[in-house]
Amino acid sequence: MKKLSLSVAFAAMMLSSGFVACNKDDDAPAPKSLYTRMTNNSPAALAKVVDDFIGIVVADNRINGVFVAFGTTSSQEKVLNLRNHLIDQIGEAAGGPFTYKGKDMITAHRGMNITDAQFNALVEDLGKALTQNGVSMADINELVGILAPLKPQIVGR
Ligand code: HEM
Repeated sequence: MKKLSLSVAFAAMMLSSGFVACNKDDDAPAPKSLYTRMTNNSPAALAKVVDDFIGIVVADNRINGVFVAFGTTSSQEKVLNLRNHLIDQIGEAAGGPFTYKGKDMITAHRGMNITDAQFNALVEDLGKALTQNGVSMADINELVGILAPLKPQIVGR
């Protein structure tokens, strides 16, 4: 009995000292990035989200006037430029292999006088595009949480 309690004490000491390696965490799969969860690592899936997003924005009377007024919708080249910047920006924000190379948000939105309501409408449209591409509400909220701090750089400029 004494022997048993000694070995129990020894095992407890080794465990609490961290001396006994615990493999549990090593074997657990690495957590997936938001980008992986959203797109299954497919750049084409992200491009599809952004294409749908632009389609929804262009059809949204609450905000499409801004894109018309600033000439974005006047040429395919401009829409393509915005699309590619959004892919990089969202892809990078979600932890994917992308690097945003466009203008900073203050410069990009200067002179537009974007309102809170317009900002919220655009975020809602992004949520719709993500939902229709099978992204979960939790992941949508996580992405919106990453983009939301940009609001002061975009609204009222
Ligand atoms: C989280 C919110 C937003 C993000 C992440 C965002 C992101 C961007 C990006 C990446 C660009 C391209 C910058 C470049 O060309 O270098 C851009 C441009 C632009 N954004 Fe936003 N934006 C947001 C909100 C808004 C809102 C609310 C509006 C209007 C309702 C808006 C209207 C525009 C317009 C008109 C352009 C110019 C496109 C062009 O150059 O033709 N954005 N935005």
